Amino acid sequence: MFENEILKRIKVEGFEASDLVSMLEVPKDTEKGDIALPCFRFAKALRKSPVQIANDLKENFDDCRFLESVEAVGGYLNFKLNRVAVAKELETVLQQGENYGASKEGAGKTVCIDFSSVNIAKPFHIGHLSTTVIGGALYRIFEKLGYKVVGINHLGDWGTQFGKLIVAFHKWGNREEIEKGGVVALNKIYVKYHQEAEKDPSLDDEARAWFKRIEDGDKTALDLFYWFKEITLLEVGKIYDRLKIKFDSYDGESFYNDKMQPVLDILEQKGLLVEDNGAKIVKLDDYDMPPCLLVKADGATLYATRDLAAAYYRRATYDFTKCLYVVAYQQNLHFRQLFKVLELMDFSGYEDMEHINFGMVSLEDGSMSSREGRVVWLKDVLDQAVDKARLIISEKNPNAEDCEQIANSVGIGAVVFSALWNNRIKDIVFSFDKVLNFDGETAPYIQYTHARCCSLLRKGGEPDVLKVDYNAIANNEGYEVVKSILAFPNAIEQSAQMREPCVVSRHIVDLAEKFNRFYISNRIVDCEECERDARLLLAKVTAQTLKAGLSLLGIDAPVIM
Ligand code: ARG
Repeated sequence: MFENEILKRIKVEGFEASDLVSMLEVPKDTEKGDIALPCFRFAKALRKSPVQIANDLKENFDDCRFLESVEAVGGYLNFKLNRVAVAKELETVLQQGENYGASKEGAGKTVCIDFSSVNIAKPFHIGHLSTTVIGGALYRIFEKLGYKVVGINHLGDWGTQFGKLIVAFHKWGNREEIEKGGVVALNKIYVKYHQEAEKDPSLDDEARAWFKRIEDGDKTALDLFYWFKEITLLEVGKIYDRLKIKFDSYDGESFYNDKMQPVLDILEQKGLLVEDNGAKIVKLDDYDMPPCLLVKADGATLYATRDLAAAYYRRATYDFTKCLYVVAYQQNLHFRQLFKVLELMDFSGYEDMEHINFGMVSLEDGSMSSREGRVVWLKDVLDQAVDKARLIISEKNPNAEDCEQIANSVGIGAVVFSALWNNRIKDIVFSFDKVLNFDGETAPYIQYTHARCCSLLRKGGEPDVLKVDYNAIANNEGYEVVKSILAFPNAIEQSAQMREPCVVSRHIVDLAEKFNRFYISNRIVDCEECERDARLLLAKVTAQTLKAGLSLLGIDAPVIM
């Protein structure tokens, strides 16, 4: 808003608005101004001294209503903003309501986001939290910027584990128990299989034979395969609902069974596919990578083969401008290989594929191991967080009517936020006490601030925009809140550009902190008549912005806490 008004008055060849934004500084001595623009980098293009340039550019700002003053000092332009004029922008924010922060930047463009991508019959454990919520947040962030987004759950629904499951089911399973126990029950017999197969390797032969029957389309085998899939999807569907996650496609690995041959043919034609002890590989020595194995000696295809087919399918089906894969950094090599092979194949737009990697989540009380069945199920983590939130809420606000709903929003929000707070690549050690802290860098803290704003509005009534005197929020604390609200759209854009939901998380924590500072030092309801409307307006747009930010992250904003 006010930034754009400043930027459009700086015309230097070779410098786009986006370059200029990154050049803007906040002067150390705020007495000098609110924003400074160093003119040194313009010297070459304009063939003048920075001092001269600053002096010349200054002329362009005579009519800028957001400015109190502009000064050219030692090659810098120092801008002092007119706080009242800037604060008046809140009216536009209010008018935009839920649309605030939305843009048309992505109009006509499609982004595919491959995220969560769970494995059938395997536990949905805390390790899947990050891909699920980072993917979900990116989905909503790109959507907000006007992109068409296709959320894809590339299910891990193919492989020998299905043969193992069938053997396990025949030996130790029971239909009723599994119908009732869901994935947990399935996982139990799967773990048992691994324990038994260690003692009796002939089980693996049986498993291979069963998997072969699935591949050959044998009805008994296929029925079981679909049943395992259904049970898993039913269970993960419940978790997706709780996390407010949706997908546009569940086309997973098995979907590509009949779509790999054409891709292998292209590789063959281009002379990229070479035989290696009966297997087929693409050599990548020239790129300092191990070969990409695509067909095993027994003819079986692999994870990478399916991903190649998926890339072609997505290109043809969705015509994406970007295809993002939200997958842990353990698969860095897989994606480097995949993208390189696509490049060698002249796959159009291989540069549009991006691996959005992230670190690991472990629990404070020791990590987990899925082999021995010592997994931490995501469902249990969510349940526990909600239980703990319920306790806290009932202490803080014993009369709250919708305690159950609030506990849900707070508990689940806290878990979701914990995976969206840091730069993706950082490993996270999860602690219930930390994520549920109402006074930290957490979702409950933001939710609490939002509820505080709502409560102020209940007490003070709706602000009358026509009566607002912006001087009442132009003091230092108020002005900080105003600036933070006005910078929210930039945060969304930056977050999309960097594929980092934490830019939004950090922005709204910062806004909440600034609002609370304002709240402590300024009366809002109980103030002079002439101040009230401005301060209530500030509370209202703060609530609106916090809610919008939370909603991008997939987190509720209860009005009472
Ligand atoms: N199912 C895989 C796993 O759990 C993740 C799949 C990611 N997506 C992809 N297209 N490879 O490791």
